[in-house]
Amino acid sequence: TRPVKIAPSLLAADFARLGEEVAAIEAAGADWLHLDIMDGHFVPNISYGPAVLKALRQHTRMPFDVHLMIAPADPYLPAFAEAGAQRISLHPEAGPHLHRSLQSIRALGCSPGVVLNPATPLSAIEHVMDMLDLILVMTVNPGFGGQGFIESQLPKIATLRRMIDATGREIALQVDGGVTARTAPRCIEAGADVLVAGTAVFGAPDYAAAIAALRGDSA
Ligand code: DX5
Ligand code: ZN
Repeated sequence: TRPVKIAPSLLAADFARLGEEVAAIEAAGADWLHLDIMDGHFVPNISYGPAVLKALRQHTRMPFDVHLMIAPADPYLPAFAEAGAQRISLHPEAGPHLHRSLQSIRALGCSPGVVLNPATPLSAIEHVMDMLDLILVMTVNPGFGGQGFIESQLPKIATLRRMIDATGREIALQVDGGVTARTAPRCIEAGADVLVAGTAVFGAPDYAAAIAALRGDSA
């Protein structure tokens, strides 16, 4: 079995102490830092932008895993790359030219990913599979932390696992939304290899124990 990576979502951190929060989850064993960028237009919430990434970049060695929930996304890709993003993922619904957006992310030196909303079919990525380093399956409707896990996405994760394995390429299969110690094992069983968790990490008293629990390590 593949080792699962944990990507805590900064959305659930204490925004008055972001530098300390990032250092704390890194020390607690987090693999990537998941950064949820929301514009109040593509999703009904506003979070933060590239200036926050830039400020945090010197506080951690974790890769920055940027989840764009903005439309349009293309004009802002250079700003996120310059702010220190390693990975940039976007929704097919965010613009008319997904292939071009993915090309732009690669050209900026970042790893491109596509995010599938609960209602978004797998056909949305059929013709760009060879461009992707990551596929993110949303198990909530994007916009807010702390929502309930949408079970109907588990077969989608399993299908994607088979599709990815068939390519023979390294494509990370990430799950985001309502991931807890209870739902994580089902995601892993379905084939996920990166779990995003906001509330389940930052809402826990002990970050290291919370991250270990998501991995399935009994503390
Ligand atoms: C939702 C975001 C998620 C969110 C996850 O729009 O993409 O990354 O922060 O939060 P939890 O883990 O609390 O569901
Ligand atoms: Zn996210």
